[in-house]
Amino acid sequence: MAEGQELLVRKDMKRVVARLHEEETKVEPYRDDYRRLLDNHGKMIRAAMVVLFARACGPTREPVDESVITGAAAIEMLHLATLVHDDVLDDAPIRRKQPTVHTIRGNKAAIYLGDLILSRYMEIMAGIAPNTDFIREQAGTVCEIVGGELYQESGRHHTDITVDYYDKAISGKTAALFRLACLTGIRLSSPRADSRMEEAARAFGGNLGMAFQIIDDINDFDLGKDTGKPKLEDIRDGIYTLPVLLGLRKDRGFRSVIESDSPEEVLGYLQAHPELLEESRQTARTYLGRADQALEGSPLNEDVRNLLGEMVTALTRQV
Ligand code: FPP
Ligand code: MG
Ligand code: MG
Repeated sequence: MAEGQELLVRKDMKRVVARLHEEETKVEPYRDDYRRLLDNHGKMIRAAMVVLFARACGPTREPVDESVITGAAAIEMLHLATLVHDDVLDDAPIRRKQPTVHTIRGNKAAIYLGDLILSRYMEIMAGIAPNTDFIREQAGTVCEIVGGELYQESGRHHTDITVDYYDKAISGKTAALFRLACLTGIRLSSPRADSRMEEAARAFGGNLGMAFQIIDDINDFDLGKDTGKPKLEDIRDGIYTLPVLLGLRKDRGFRSVIESDSPEEVLGYLQAHPELLEESRQTARTYLGRADQALEGSPLNEDVRNLLGEMVTALTRQV
């Protein structure tokens, strides 16, 4: 039965991609840039979470309602908008092995394209919202994402920030969107879903999102792993992620290495202290375990729950 569900989800996701392409006419004059983003899309994990949670608490054998497909596409658009702006802020030349929008078209075009995609996300969600709480949740999450980014920005180049500080920043900038994706699936399939479903969505999305960002941050120090992005970018930008903060907590002498402004020396320190990367990996595994636990004993459909569990397993393999 889970296999049947997998096929249905794959069909749903094809509809999501088609829905995203329908938006091309709405982002003129940046249609080609938008299309380039879509042609180079990743696994669309956030959109898949919308579809899976809609399936997990609604009818599971039929194609999902068009509003779920539209909501999944909109969540992916919110993600795309944040990435286009993030690459300007981080001055990132490459993402998913391709030059970023601002690298090809300049900062002005990247800001406008991000603004256009974000505006369409809002307009689309307003069109399918089952109630005003839905809009409040979407808008509130965008505030959380921006808040997380700003919090990270305030801590830039500060060697006295803590692991708690980091947790708060990534909870806003990354985990909030994962949480929202799961909740959006529930809201669009059953606006009056019971509170245990909502709790499962929050806990699953939030914990998966935390793990996702920690893994991304570990990979920034792993020169052997092909992520399609340049390496050592966080430390070069003065963004101190979990392995660095764990190192600072244990050894204040690490501070002088960081303040030497040499990303290679920081990498050298982490390579000489492998327990810091290992503890970071263990933290990611703990969040993944919590995401798995959120599924257990939840009222979500069992076949879909298995697919969500496979998502956790796939991420665990990457740690
Ligand atoms: C990637 O993190 C970026 C985010 C998770 C969020 C970015 C959010 C903003 C720029 C503000 C909000 C923008 C809009 C349009 C509402 P990263 O830089 O650590 O990861 P990366 O290595 O993938 O770039
Ligand atoms: Mg970035
Ligand atoms: Mg960033």
